[in-house]
Amino acid sequence: MQEKIRIITTRNGRLVCAPREVLFQRLVDLMDHAGNDGRAYSIGLTGGSTPKAFYDWTVREDALPAGVRERAVWTVSDERMVPLASDESNFGTADRRLLTPVKIAEGHKLPWPVQVDPHSAATVFNRRWTERFGGETCFDLCVLGMGDDGHTASIFPGSPLLEVDLAENFTCVEVPEKGWRLTITRAGLERSRKVAVIVTGAAKAKVLKQVMEGPEGHYPVQILQAFRERVTWLVDPEAAAGLSSLNAVRG
Ligand code: 6PG
Repeated sequence: MQEKIRIITTRNGRLVCAPREVLFQRLVDLMDHAGNDGRAYSIGLTGGSTPKAFYDWTVREDALPAGVRERAVWTVSDERMVPLASDESNFGTADRRLLTPVKIAEGHKLPWPVQVDPHSAATVFNRRWTERFGGETCFDLCVLGMGDDGHTASIFPGSPLLEVDLAENFTCVEVPEKGWRLTITRAGLERSRKVAVIVTGAAKAKVLKQVMEGPEGHYPVQILQAFRERVTWLVDPEAAAGLSSLNAVRG
């Protein structure tokens, strides 16, 4: 039996529940629509296992429209302080599995400068961003994931970034037991024109239910609530299994 597509409005944004490949196509559509006024535009990819499956699917299906390939400028919404050649590098992974296979021009790739110290990397990246796009805007489309502890980008539970309101789009932060990370800030998320959160797998079901239906202001990813009208959640049925609001909807 074919799995149905269910769409609901949640307190954290619009939520689309569908099988993975349908979600991947929706993400491609969001990438396409983000630049539909014809100018150069920016897409921030993310790390984790779901984006890797998305990259492989996109290349296999030749799913990226020519307009996206020609006009989008690509970077990542968070990064680890490792060389691009490392499997741990979010941009390096995106480049090897998606950007290079679909022949994105080198001038449309904007990796974080991970070869310097984290503070300098954040300063340089903010400066490069402002020179290219202006400081008052962030991504046209910011792609995020959600960890099973409710983190998003590199904003983890207990993060100092939840306590301060930084003006910059991007910053560095030391994450206990994970080391230094580079990440979009709350301000950068607020300045992004669209945000897509892709969440798959049964391991996410419990926290997704809490994020959507439990206490507010508890998980980092709930910071998206403040601008939910610009946020789309792409969730597979396994991750959405616990959502009572969704399960009340007939597909
Ligand atoms: C990272 C990500 C991180 C990720 C989530 C979800 O660099 O790891 O930015 O926030 O998106 O942990 O990852 P999965 O796709 O593996 O569920």
